[in-house]
Amino acid sequence: MSNTGAISAGRDVQNTAGNSHRYRIAVIPGDGIGQEVIPPGVDALKAAADRFGFRLAFEHFPWGSDYYRQHGLMMPADGLDQLRPFDAIYFGAVGWPDLPDHVTLWGLRLAICQGFDQWANVRPSRILPGVRGPLRDKGPEDFDIVVVRENSEGEYAGAGGRIRRGRAEELAIQTAVFSRTAVERVIEYAFALAERRPRRKLTSITKSNAQAYSMTLWDDIFAECAGRHPNVETESWLVDASTIRFVLHPESLDVVVASNLFADILTDLAGALSGSLGLAPSANLDPSRRSPSMFEPVHGSAPDIFGKGVANPIAAIWSGAMLLDHLGEGEAARAIEAAIATVTAAGRTLTPDLGGTATTAEVGAAIVAAIGA
Ligand code: NAI
Ligand code: MG
Repeated sequence: MSNTGAISAGRDVQNTAGNSHRYRIAVIPGDGIGQEVIPPGVDALKAAADRFGFRLAFEHFPWGSDYYRQHGLMMPADGLDQLRPFDAIYFGAVGWPDLPDHVTLWGLRLAICQGFDQWANVRPSRILPGVRGPLRDKGPEDFDIVVVRENSEGEYAGAGGRIRRGRAEELAIQTAVFSRTAVERVIEYAFALAERRPRRKLTSITKSNAQAYSMTLWDDIFAECAGRHPNVETESWLVDASTIRFVLHPESLDVVVASNLFADILTDLAGALSGSLGLAPSANLDPSRRSPSMFEPVHGSAPDIFGKGVANPIAAIWSGAMLLDHLGEGEAARAIEAAIATVTAAGRTLTPDLGGTATTAEVGAAIVAAIGA
């Protein structure tokens, strides 16, 4: 099983410094602060490539809400074909208040995730050195969680319908879909990731008491997989109780695996608890490597702060480190992570979400400088 982008995990295929690998990266900044945080992210990737002696060729795609207003589509009809030859996709955010979110999200981000079967969404969160999160007594040593989110079906399978529109008897059905194949592959992925981390602990989060069909299937498959990984400590928790645990006892969590919806919610929570949603990175992986994987911050387009130049670029830059990990450039990925930690620990160049006064560009430049150092 190859490592596919997990933070702080060793890789099986490691390029050595000084090689001449060249990777093609498709860049989709998208909407709102996606356009502000992706440029410093690209700068950080370039700085890491320069230092470790590989080459990155970036191609930009102006897809998103502006494209939709002009063309009636979030991306061209052959968008996936255009992206397919790339080694990875670097994505900002999508969505804007004048357009329905389900149109923008499905038209671009979910179209790519599902079109390329990026079935594992890996979302690390840590309290970085120097960052004071909202949890009074928790520091970096207490908060280092990776959530693995099932990214291909579940509550976001898109199965259902809405009928009798506008009438009193209007009705909608949205069916969650859980297949043995999809559940098993994401749980196996999470076990493999847990095995590469020092604590070797995996928590499965469901709601089997209320959702007695889909979630008991998940629990059964989790138990089967656990039998194949006796070296990993396992536990199954209910999602409501888990929210309490994220807040009160985050140190008891290591790797978490959950369905599309539950992990979506839990990772916004984890992002906020780690100090800011502006810190939380993510990877949408096709571990089979048949299609390019996509790397993006967890946050959205943040219309409330767009245009002010104050968006925190760390989530985007950290996502770039995950991209390099996936390409096999683990050393370069570690250098970006170390540079982020250097800048947060110094505490001089932070955006307002972390209590500072620096701009997006200033934080980006400080991290680029630290990568080169
Ligand atoms: P959001 O993540 O854009 O913003 C939530 C809050 O966090 C806002 O107060 C924002 O200012 C703050 N925030 C987010 N990123 C930040 C950063 N880098 N630095 C500092 N503060 C940051 O979520 P919201 O407001 O619910 O959604 C806005 C739009 O983004 C919607 O159209 C939504 O559909 C879309 N969205 C897209 C996502 C994606 O493309 N992956 C994910 C989440 C939302
Ligand atoms: Mg979300």
